[in-house]
Amino acid sequence: TVSVLYWRLLPLPVWPMSAATGEVLALAASFQQSFALATAVELKIPEAIRDGATTTAAIATAAGIPEDSANRLLRALATIGFFEQDHASGRWRNTEKGEATIAVRDTIVHLGKHCAPGWMHLTDALKTQRHVAQQAYGHDTMWDWLVQDPERVATFNANMQLATTRLTDALLTQYDWSQYNGKRLCDVGGGRGHLVGSVIKKHPEIKGVCFDLPEVVAEGKQWAAAQGFDGLTFEGGSFFERVPNAEVITLGHIIHDWNNDKCLGILESCRNAIADDGTLII
Ligand SMILES: C[S@@+](CC[C@H](N)C(=O)[O-])C[C@H]1O[C@@H](n2cnc3c(N)ncnc32)[C@H](O)[C@@H]1O
Repeated sequence: TVSVLYWRLLPLPVWPMSAATGEVLALAASFQQSFALATAVELKIPEAIRDGATTTAAIATAAGIPEDSANRLLRALATIGFFEQDHASGRWRNTEKGEATIAVRDTIVHLGKHCAPGWMHLTDALKTQRHVAQQAYGHDTMWDWLVQDPERVATFNANMQLATTRLTDALLTQYDWSQYNGKRLCDVGGGRGHLVGSVIKKHPEIKGVCFDLPEVVAEGKQWAAAQGFDGLTFEGGSFFERVPNAEVITLGHIIHDWNNDKCLGILESCRNAIADDGTLII
C-alpha cells in the first residue's frame, strides 16, 4: 500500500494527457497527500526531526513505527515538499512547509483523522439527507465517537480553539460587548471556553459560562485555568436537551454541523433558556 502511495505522490503525467486531465487526476489523487501528511503529523515526525532525530532509524523510533515504514512515508512526503534528505549522510530535515505543520498539528490531525471518515459517506448523506455518523464512526454523531478518547477530545478542542482564536480579536473589537455588563453570557457548544473566556477577560463585569459536552468541558476547564479566564464557569450537557439560562447566548460554528431538524432542536433549547429580552448571537 505504501509503495502505491509513494508512486501516487509523484507528479502524475505518466502517459500523454491534456493539462485539464492532469489537473483532474491530481485532484482525484490528492487525498493520498492529505492522508500521508496527517499520518506523519499525527506521529509527530516533524517535531522529532526538529528535536534532533534526523536519521531514518531515529525518526522511526520516535514515531513508534518500523524503519522501513518511516523511510517510505518520509520519501513520499519529500515528493511534495515537507522533508528533505541529505543524500550523503541520509539525514532528514524539515522544509519550511514541514516546520509549519507543527503549529497547526491539531487542525491537520482533526481534518485528516477525525473528519475524513465522514466524507467517505458523502454519497449516502446526499441521498438520504441524514447524518452518516453511524456508518462512519459507529456512533450517532462524530462527537459521540470523539469523546470516547481523551486524546481525540484534546486534539479537537485545540483545533477549534486555534480556529476561533484567529477571529477573537475581530470579535472583541468590532462588537460592543460592554452592553452586557452585569449579564450572563453563555457560549453554547463553546469548547474550551476560548471565546467567552476572552470576552470576560476584557469585560470582567460579564458573567461567562461555557456549555458543551461533559468530556469536552472537562478538558476545556484545564486549558482555561492556564489562560487566566477568572470567573469563567463550565457546564456539561447536550444542547439537544437544555442549555444554561442566560441573557446572552452565543453559537459559534455550531449551526453548520447539523441538519434543519437538529438545528431547530438547538434553537429551541436556546429559546427556553434565554431571557425574554435576551440576545442570541450566531
Ligand atoms: C465546531 S465546534 C465549535 C466550538 C466553538 N464554539 C468554536 O467556535 O470554536 C462544535 C462544538 O459543539 C459541541 N457539541 C457537539 N454536540 C453537542 C451537544 N449535543 N451538546 C453540546 N455541545 C455539543 C462540540 O463538542 C464542539 O465543541
